[in-house]
Amino acid sequence: MVIERENSNIATFELEKQQQYMQKMKAYLSEWEQKTGRKQSYFVLTTGCQMNAHDSEKLAGMLENMGYIASPTEENADFVIYNTCCIRENAEEKVYGRLGRLKYYKNKNKDMKIALCGCMTQQDIVIEKLQKSYKFVDIVFGTFNLYKLPELLYHSMKTDGTLFDIWKEAGEIVEDIPTVYKSTFQASVNVTYGCENYCSYCIVPYVRGKERSRKPEDIIYEIEQLVKSGTKEVMLLGQNVNSYGKNLETPLSFAKLLQRIHQIEGLERIRFMTSHPKDLSDELIETIKNYKKVCNYIHLPIQSGSSEVLKRMNRRYTKEQYLALVEKLKNAIPDITISTDIIVGFPGETEQNFQETLDVIRQVKYCTSFTFIYSKRTGTPAAKMEHQIPEEVVKDRFNRLLQVLNPLVEEVHKKQVGTVADVLVEEVSKQNHKILTGRTENNILVHFEGNKNLIGKILPIKIIDSKTFYVIGERV
Ligand code: 5AD
Ligand code: SF4
Repeated sequence: MVIERENSNIATFELEKQQQYMQKMKAYLSEWEQKTGRKQSYFVLTTGCQMNAHDSEKLAGMLENMGYIASPTEENADFVIYNTCCIRENAEEKVYGRLGRLKYYKNKNKDMKIALCGCMTQQDIVIEKLQKSYKFVDIVFGTFNLYKLPELLYHSMKTDGTLFDIWKEAGEIVEDIPTVYKSTFQASVNVTYGCENYCSYCIVPYVRGKERSRKPEDIIYEIEQLVKSGTKEVMLLGQNVNSYGKNLETPLSFAKLLQRIHQIEGLERIRFMTSHPKDLSDELIETIKNYKKVCNYIHLPIQSGSSEVLKRMNRRYTKEQYLALVEKLKNAIPDITISTDIIVGFPGETEQNFQETLDVIRQVKYCTSFTFIYSKRTGTPAAKMEHQIPEEVVKDRFNRLLQVLNPLVEEVHKKQVGTVADVLVEEVSKQNHKILTGRTENNILVHFEGNKNLIGKILPIKIIDSKTFYVIGERV
């Protein structure tokens, strides 16, 4: 089937302009190579979520298109770019720390170019700090104009001083940016950009803008191309995939999008994240249940088990509604696995509120849980709330949370023992080169003995033992 894809004039103009800059950079770099006898290299450092990791694949794609080659080390790279996260304070501290070291490298190699982009740079306070104390950074751009890297890089080659290009809001979605996918068999694909849920603790809506959905034909075209080059599993990305399609010219539900993607021949697995509980439809549950390629696994952040805290978090569901949703999912799809995000120490959280979170954990039995200590983010409503919780109280709750959580996670893994599951083999274990790791449809991590030529294959594996965070299997 040939799908008609129609990009707007603005998006086409923007893409063509960047293609021209990529050509200009290519000429510049080739001249440089003739003079020096070597190619220029790049290093991309990514912090944060899968969305950022995928953005970095686009940065690498544009750079390789210009003629840069990947550098294994940051120290020796000609162009270093940090794609940053600001969801919690420690993510930002990590970047400032590494920038300090980078300054030292640049002092040794004066021609090194440095760029900073991503969520952190969308904040005024960060820009002020960079202007004052990080003058050695050459280019600073944000989340809305990532595709402008070729143009910015070209101009920065011709000028001194830092080039700042930060947009306050999103423009058109620019499709077809060259991308270097890290894996040949798994790929992340954006379905929405931005978020407008305004959870009171979260900075994402301020740095990633209003929610925009990609057109279904663009998503399907991208996945078809990926499948042609070997992709078996796609991860559909959005801050809240469940509200996909609402703002399209011809609205389309996320479930319907999944059903269309399901038709792509050769694609074997479809995953997605993140699902906001308030928007999880019955249609989606039925789609997970009835469409084989859609994995029986869902990431469904609870954040807190207390309805009172959830209200102040502006999550727009109660503990009871969340538990009813989990019940509905489990009834419809008995083998579904569920993972979650939990924040401990939200302003005003009482011991009683915290106990409610433990209660939800005991009831749901998550396969994985991403646990976070609340981090105050300037500009969010929660930052101004009274009763910020003292550090020692939060740390104590966090430790108690893990003590309850881990045995339950272990239980979920133990339940897999004796079953045979299809595993997509991902890589050789970092601890033991004889061991391969992969994931079941339920997103259960499996370790088993095997040769690395099995990477990228989907194999039936018998689960024979379990640990807290993974299971051990053998080939059948
Ligand atoms: N502090 C701690 N955790 C946060 N998250 C988002 N904002 C904050 C914050 N200010 C967590 C939420 C979200 C995940 C991606 O990060 O749990 O689901
Ligand atoms: Fe942040 Fe809430 Fe949007 Fe998730 S849904 S990105 S937690 S505002």
